[in-house]
Amino acid sequence: MLHRRRFLQLGSLGLGSFSLASFYSGKADIRKPIVISTWHEGIAANQEAWKILREGGRSLDAVEKGVMVTESSQNCCVGLGANPDRDGFVTLDASIMDEYANCGSVAYLERIKHPISVARRVMEKTPHVMLVGSGAQQFAVEEGFPLEPQQLSKEAEKTYKNWLKKSEYKPVINIENSGNHPNQTAFVPTRFENGEFNHDTIGMVAMDAHGNLSGSCTTSGMGFKMRGRVGDSPIIGAGLFVDNEVGAATATGQGEDVIRICGSHLVVELMRQGLSPENACKKAVERIIKIKGDKAKEIQVGFIALNKQGEYGGYCIQKGFNFAVCYADDKNYMVDGKYLL
Ligand code: GLY
Repeated sequence: MLHRRRFLQLGSLGLGSFSLASFYSGKADIRKPIVISTWHEGIAANQEAWKILREGGRSLDAVEKGVMVTESSQNCCVGLGANPDRDGFVTLDASIMDEYANCGSVAYLERIKHPISVARRVMEKTPHVMLVGSGAQQFAVEEGFPLEPQQLSKEAEKTYKNWLKKSEYKPVINIENSGNHPNQTAFVPTRFENGEFNHDTIGMVAMDAHGNLSGSCTTSGMGFKMRGRVGDSPIIGAGLFVDNEVGAATATGQGEDVIRICGSHLVVELMRQGLSPENACKKAVERIIKIKGDKAKEIQVGFIALNKQGEYGGYCIQKGFNFAVCYADDKNYMVDGKYLL
């Protein structure tokens, strides 16, 4: 039981906005608001999301605005500056989900800068969950999203031309080096020398000051993928899942293997059974490794998760996955994902 004396102490410390309800329900230790997101780009994305969360805004707005920062980047694995498919077209996938289990997604979307916002419109303005390809683009244009020129970024064009020389599809395992210390800002290269990115997706999950969870996930998918290929990111339950009673999870890495186990849904269900976010992510990774056997060494998948207590965690197959955690103006830092192989 929580004690009246402690409540009076808190009052005398000037914590007047401290919620009486949460105090008496014994939930005083819940860390909220909080936002976490995949890879180093998560630092800038979290920063944007945090602006909304710290003002008491909705987690849905935070996760949309947060990943829009990454989508705007011109030299990233996400958005129109990314590597194209094998036919030279950048195609984008994104999904979003809120605390009411409302969800929306787009896949195989071309020439639209912010697929995450189109996904949100699908959620809010249509009776559907998912729109793909030319239909998604048509909807986006009708909703007022500008149709961007069909052209590769300079870097992507160089990389693509290089790739065409051999036309071999050999994805590089996603890795990134984190200094793993608070407020890390160390430079992390976005592309390897061969033009591949060191990762593929930004996934973000957040809990707002009201204790409500939302998530977003956006990607250009694997560079030089087959035309028409769609990964896990726009698939609710695979790349992203939110259950406001339990927690939220999102995934990065080889989408095919995330889809195979309905990864993010699995992580949330494991948290429902009482696992911590980190252990839930670990179990999901173990399942992929079991299915893949020796081939697991050739791929990377990482999950991150957040529960209703504001506890977070991440796990991945190979060393080199990291994620950004933000829960205060001066607390936005990288955490290295634990790994199994
Ligand atoms: N995880 C992103 C993709 O496989 O498309």
